Order: sequence, then structure tokens, then C-alpha cells
Amino acid sequence: MTHITIKRPDDWHVHLRDGDMLKAVLPHTAKDFGRAIIMPNLVPPVTTSAMAQAYRDRILSALPDGADFNPLMVLYLTEDTDPADVRAGFESGLVTAVKLYPAGATTNSASGVRNMDKVMPVLEVMAEIGMPLCVHGEVTDSDIDIFDREAVFIDRVLDPLGRRLPELRVVAEHITTKQAVDYIAQASRALAATITTHHLMINRNAMLAGGIKPHYYCLPVAKREMHRKALVAAAISGDPRFFLGTDSAPHTDPNKLQECGCAGIFTAPNTMACLAQIFEDEDALDKLEGFTSLHGPAFYRLPVNDAEMVLSRSDSPVTFPDRIETGEGPVTIFDPMRPIYWQVSS
Ligand code: DOR
Ligand code: ZN
Repeated sequence: MTHITIKRPDDWHVHLRDGDMLKAVLPHTAKDFGRAIIMPNLVPPVTTSAMAQAYRDRILSALPDGADFNPLMVLYLTEDTDPADVRAGFESGLVTAVKLYPAGATTNSASGVRNMDKVMPVLEVMAEIGMPLCVHGEVTDSDIDIFDREAVFIDRVLDPLGRRLPELRVVAEHITTKQAVDYIAQASRALAATITTHHLMINRNAMLAGGIKPHYYCLPVAKREMHRKALVAAAISGDPRFFLGTDSAPHTDPNKLQECGCAGIFTAPNTMACLAQIFEDEDALDKLEGFTSLHGPAFYRLPVNDAEMVLSRSDSPVTFPDRIETGEGPVTIFDPMRPIYWQVSS
């Protein structure tokens, strides 16, 4: 096969940041994706509809001329979030989802949730109006091994939440374990999951074997190979509960390459090429469109994009730039550590 045509993809989880970083990274997402769920973990976080409106305006004014891109705004859930503001933001069409970060789980999550009881009034309104909750599914307890934090979160938070509020529509974001795949696949409630490009391509050896490699450090951290294989199986399964959320998360190289480096992998420029390679290697190119372009809109109750994307295959590997320059400093692009023969051609 030399090329494939799919409906224009969407990215159901991306970090666009703000200011100079936003200007530099946004064109890469807007080029390949029709819509994206925009993470609200700015400093300060996007906690109200008014802040979401202002952030959306900044994103729209940073778009290149002629771009076909719709940022879907997300409110950062805190223990002080006002249910009436969430309802008004959703019903006006401005806000698409709410994001639950357990306090301290990741970059800029200090204002996240400590006690789920405190946010139940918000979650009850969301269940009533059909608004999705996006979840960073890791516990933060210091006595839980970092490689187990996702599996423990399922037992301690995700499963009890489903029993307490079964109508709530939940997206388990950037899942990294076989336990998460199995849990979602058997769930009878409105529960879906996003999977990142990098978690489909790397296991924890990328980060830790042969020297420590900060550019492969993200949260949740990549796990063992058996978990990566379970994620690939879910992505190519055609099960509509699994869809793409790149979690493309740019940090400057100085911020990655320090004693306490930031978590995040910047995949926006080569995500679609990498995905086509993975799906081809699995003999599942016919499932790529579902994963990148159909399952997400179905869960979010939005139409599929009208536009199409063509990906083409070369006989020799395609090269991608190592990094982009931003007004804040260089940002390294994800290196998949294997040849990629695909690229987006239009
Ligand atoms: O690797 C990550 N980077 N995981 C997250 O959850 C946050 C993100 C970021 O904002 O940099
Ligand atoms: Zn993220």
C-alpha cells in the first residue's frame, strides 16, 4: 500500500500551553487535527468558563491563517469548582469537558482534587447534562510505586466512581497498562479511554536502559512491554471505546534536561506518521481511521470531520526534524527510535 485516505483526525488530549510556546506548537496540532481537547493545566489553571473563553480566544488568535482547527475547551476541576459555571459553560457550547487531576499527579496539578466527596455536586451536574469527565488516572500516595499508580487508581477511584455515579461519562486518559485496557473493555458504563502515540511505541526501557533519557519521561510513565502490547491490541481492535489522545506535552530542553526534569513528550509534529507505521506493522491500517477520526467524535457526540487526510508511504524512511525552536527555547520532537515510512501528504 502506498497511501491511505482517512477522515481528518482529532486529538482528544493535547497540551498547547500559552504565549510563545502556544504560538510555536499550535501549528503542528492544527495542521493534522480538526479538533483537540485542550488541557487546562496552565499556570494558573483554567478553572472557570471565563478563563476558558479567554484561553480559547488566545488559541484562535495564535492560529496560522486559514487553519481548520477547533479547540475544545476543558475546565480544570478543583474542590471549589462551581457546578453552575460548569453547567453554563457546557450548555453555551464553550466548554466540552472537565478534567480531574488528582492533586500532585503531574505538571501543574497542585490545585487538583484531594477529596472526591468535595466534587460530587459538580460531577452530579455533569452526569445530568451528559458532559464528559476526563481523568488523569493515577493515585499520588507516596507509598504507591509509580509503576502501579494507574492500576491502584482504577481500584480506588475509577471503579468506586462508576458505582456511585454510573451515568457520568468518563474518559480514562492516556492509559498505560493492561489493567486499564481490560477494565475499560469490560465496562458497561459510559467509559472510554485515550491512548497516546508514544505509549504505543515505547516501553520503560526507552527511558531507563543504556542511560537515563529524559525525553522519554512522561506521566503516566511508560510501563513494561506487555503493557505496551495490550495498548496496541486495544488501539487496533476497532473497539470504539479506545481512541487517540496524543498527550503531546512540550517542555523546553533546559526544562527536560535538569536534575528534576519535567514530564512530557512532544509528539504533535510526527504523531500521524508514527501511528500509520504502528498500524501498518500490525497489519491493521484499516483500523487507523476509527482510532484517530471516528471513535472520539462518537464518544463526545460530535460529528466526524468532513475533511480528509492522506498519508503516504515511501520506500525509504522519512526523516523528521529533531526539535522545533520556540520563543522560550528549543523543544525536542519525539524520536520513535525506529524507521518510519509514512508521512502526512495532504
Ligand atoms: O507527561 C505529562 N506531561 N503528563 C501529564 O499528565 C502532564 C503533561 C504536561 O503538562 O507536561
Ligand atoms: Zn496530558
